[in-house]
Amino acid sequence: MGKCISFHSYKGGTGKTTLATNFSFLLASKGYSVYLLDLDFYAPSLFSYFDVKPKSWINDYLIGNSSIDDIFIDLSSLINGNIDGKLFLGFSKGGKEDVYQLEGNLTTDKQVKLKQFQNFISMREEILVNKEADFMIVDTSPGIRYWSINSIVVSDIILLTLKMGDLDLKGTIKMVEEIYNSLIENGAICKLLLNRVSGYCMPPILEINHNMEPRETYYKQKVDEMFKGAKKTSITLDTLVEIPCYCDIQFKEREYLTIKESPNHPFSTKISEMFDKIIKLY
Ligand SMILES: Nc1ncnc2c1ncn2[C@@H]1O[C@H](COP(=O)(O)OP(=O)(O)OP(=O)(O)O)[C@@H](O)[C@H]1O
Ligand SMILES: [Mg+2]
Repeated sequence: MGKCISFHSYKGGTGKTTLATNFSFLLASKGYSVYLLDLDFYAPSLFSYFDVKPKSWINDYLIGNSSIDDIFIDLSSLINGNIDGKLFLGFSKGGKEDVYQLEGNLTTDKQVKLKQFQNFISMREEILVNKEADFMIVDTSPGIRYWSINSIVVSDIILLTLKMGDLDLKGTIKMVEEIYNSLIENGAICKLLLNRVSGYCMPPILEINHNMEPRETYYKQKVDEMFKGAKKTSITLDTLVEIPCYCDIQFKEREYLTIKESPNHPFSTKISEMFDKIIKLY
């Protein structure tokens, strides 16, 4: 059976959407059948990548008003070359009313919330079993919110994305202690993605003045030490891949698929490295 992989982070802006989208595209261009879901109801952003209008939204399915085929748009034609791979996209709607419909009042709407979660499990089943997809990729919202937790709960692999140079390590470790540990104990695989590691665009003179090891190694060690130092965390999360910060991606006028536009860009090489490592995880 196919796998469900989610991109999550403690803080926002760590690169989840960028990585999930480029990774999904890479999978499809390798011939896999991929469903990419924007489950960031609070701030959907996949739209900025694709200029399409779905018949229905993921929200509609979760509240029981829609079918899988009305949600997912077949964007396989975006894949370069003559490849059998499939790329389907599902979008979410993040207006105030839409968020309330799904978030509601956690204390009073328990039955409704349970039904929505059951529908989410059904969606996973439909994608991975009925549609026989190889991958269901979920782009989540950051932090400990109802739907980001639901997303990681149903995932086989959770990629916890950190934006380096930030102060989000402590919060990330607390989140791992409070939530991830039990998921890992129940069989989920969780790996760290260190994104936007400085170094690529940093003037070499700064590196020398700081007398540092290469930045990627430096951050990896720092993360390892933090995890070891955390009292309650019995699990040390491994880093899957360290991805430098590439200014040319960040300052692009319109977000787009770097891996499609520039397959030889070092960012695209990093996405390929991610693929090679993930495929070995199971
Ligand atoms: N490796 C990278 N190098 C340079 N820029 C990057 C890199 N990864 C992501 N970015 C940029 O960082 C910004 C935030 O990325 P993105 O929207 O993917 O983060 P996110 O985690 O999905 O954010 P949110 O939590 O708000 O949904 C974007 O402008 C993106 O282009
Ligand atoms: Mg995002």
